Amino acid sequence: MNQSIERVINKRIIFAGGKGGVGKSTTAASLAKAASDMGKRVLLISTDPAHNLGDIFHTALGNEPITAAEGLDIIEIDPDQETDRYIEQVKENIQGHVKATMIEEVNRQMDLAKSSPGADEAALFHRLASLILEEEQNYDLLVFDTAPTGHTLRLLSLPELMGVWMDGMLERRKKTNEHYTQMIYDGEPVDDPIFQVLQNRRQTFAKVREILLDKEITGFLFVLNPERLPIQETKRAVETLKKNKIPVLAIIINKILPESVDGSFFQKRKEQQKYYLEEIDHHFKGMSKIYVPLLEEDISTLSHLDQIIESMTEK
Ligand SMILES: Nc1ncnc2c1ncn2[C@@H]1O[C@H](COP(=O)(O)OP(=O)(O)O)[C@@H](O)[C@H]1O
Ligand SMILES: [Mg+2]
Repeated sequence: MNQSIERVINKRIIFAGGKGGVGKSTTAASLAKAASDMGKRVLLISTDPAHNLGDIFHTALGNEPITAAEGLDIIEIDPDQETDRYIEQVKENIQGHVKATMIEEVNRQMDLAKSSPGADEAALFHRLASLILEEEQNYDLLVFDTAPTGHTLRLLSLPELMGVWMDGMLERRKKTNEHYTQMIYDGEPVDDPIFQVLQNRRQTFAKVREILLDKEITGFLFVLNPERLPIQETKRAVETLKKNKIPVLAIIINKILPESVDGSFFQKRKEQQKYYLEEIDHHFKGMSKIYVPLLEEDISTLSHLDQIIESMTEK
């Protein structure tokens, strides 16, 4: 196993980002399996609705960790279901704090919120945050096979936005409270349950963000192919991370045509790939790079995952 791979699986949390179809799930599953083969306890978390991890591991997967191989548990999160669950949970949380006559209205509002933009990101982030906080002690490594790039990046910037937003809410809540206690309770402080809920949430987000930004703990990988669009997308993603001062652990260049393919058609394709590989070299100078060849078949078995790891080379 080469040093780049070791460096990757020696982190505690890794994310594999990239455009749809480039090989995120394949890479994430291969790295997770390699780590568990080394004796680590690994949790692989897929948020990709189009995943086929269950087929590869011959195990029915779902919303809670299922042991798919020795030392390797997998969770498949369905983003739609996650949003439903999240909204239900928020409804329950609120119900204890509002007047009975308001509950119907609150529920109506929450059902509207379900389809508003950002609801699924908020739900997904909430789940990922919980997983990070709850499962970090149970596993040596968490591998997130995240859905396409824009999403991943939003998840990252969200804690910060969330922080600003929460501070505002907390501040307003505190003011209302002070006002209230003065008027009604003659200055006696009251326990405000909503203030408590917000405060707890704020602390959760702060903790998660700290973990995500600690480069000793967390590593971000970008998977791409030697093609125009995946390169463009990766450039943008790397830029955005840079802006947030988040380093990229490595980029993984997948589906490289092997030297051995021949025929004039493949000769042309190889030339084209060579052009894009040079561009990758040039543009992502100084970044750790891992190269993966295109295998003869789709990745559908455990031995394919091993093949991916064995055939990875670094630069
Ligand atoms: N190195 C590879 N060689 C052969 N097929 C690959 C390779 N990497 C990925 N694939 C195939 O490409 C398709 C997309 O891969 P996948 O890992 O699901 O991408 P993503 O998760 O980024 O959408 C799958 O059918 C997978 O089997
Ligand atoms: Mg996938």
